[in-house]
Amino acid sequence: MRHKREKIAVISGAAHGIGKAVALLLAEQVKALILIDIDAEGLARTHAQLNEKSGNTVALSVYTADVTQEAEVRQVFAEIRDIYSHIDILINAVGGSSSSGQSGVLTEDMSLQQWQSLFSLNLNSAFLCCREVIPVMKKQGYGRIVNFSSIARHGRRDKVSSAYAASKAGIDGFTRKLAREVAPFGITCNAVASGITLTGRIKEEFWNKRSGAEQNALLESIPLRRLSSPEEQAQVAVFLASDAASYLTGQIIEVSGGL
Ligand SMILES: NC(=O)c1ccc[n+]([C@@H]2O[C@H](COP(=O)([O-])OP(=O)(O)OC[C@H]3O[C@@H](n4cnc5c(N)ncnc54)[C@H](O)[C@@H]3O)[C@@H](O)[C@H]2O)c1
Repeated sequence: MRHKREKIAVISGAAHGIGKAVALLLAEQVKALILIDIDAEGLARTHAQLNEKSGNTVALSVYTADVTQEAEVRQVFAEIRDIYSHIDILINAVGGSSSSGQSGVLTEDMSLQQWQSLFSLNLNSAFLCCREVIPVMKKQGYGRIVNFSSIARHGRRDKVSSAYAASKAGIDGFTRKLAREVAPFGITCNAVASGITLTGRIKEEFWNKRSGAEQNALLESIPLRRLSSPEEQAQVAVFLASDAASYLTGQIIEVSGGL
């Protein structure tokens, strides 16, 4: 087993939100961070913030790519494998409920394109990145894979679509099955099922659009009476990616304030 300061981690969706929070936390623990995102400017800001925070003690590589596109994912990981001799951690933080607008669209009004784009964003992204790292992790006999599910996986949230619920239920099944496939090789695979988390996107697209009364009703429905911060989600992902979670695999950890 490698000392934690020797570890190399790949994070998809590192420009904003929970993925960025994971990057900022993991920077204190690993030798190198490889950040992937579709938003080049956002990535550059994360990169600058990480350098400032870590004082250049962590090696950073950034890749602008759409991780729903097979050819782009293949290309990025080929370049990563050329530079780095091993990959210890993969955090799949790309995902969301509204890739083509109308996050709460009803099933009868949903186009096939809307349905497929959410599956692509939430499921294809995780599948494509996992497929690239599994052979590397198998060869080295060690790996930590962390996916992101959602409380929407239960299909009981009115504000999100059935496509989002189904794609996150899909992440659960994918995580459990992949965990069984890779466990004999010293690789764990788990997921964080996030509750409502106040990222920039959620603030803008969801929280700020609610009236004060709606915000209060929502907070009342959460046993801890508040929304999550991105860091509170990231802490759990970082734990799942650590050696402290060595006997934990195939699990979906709900981080929802008790909702
Ligand atoms: N924020 C929440 O309330 C919440 C709740 C439940 C689950 N989740 C899940 O947590 C994960 C992270 O969500 P978040 O709220 O931090 O999202 P976010 O939108 O804040 O960040 C997502 C990041 O992924 C990048 N991205 C989007 N599409 C991409 C693509 N095709 N290729 C590469 N990069 C891409 C974005 O540029 C962004 O940096 C997602 O899987 C989401 O479904 C979030």
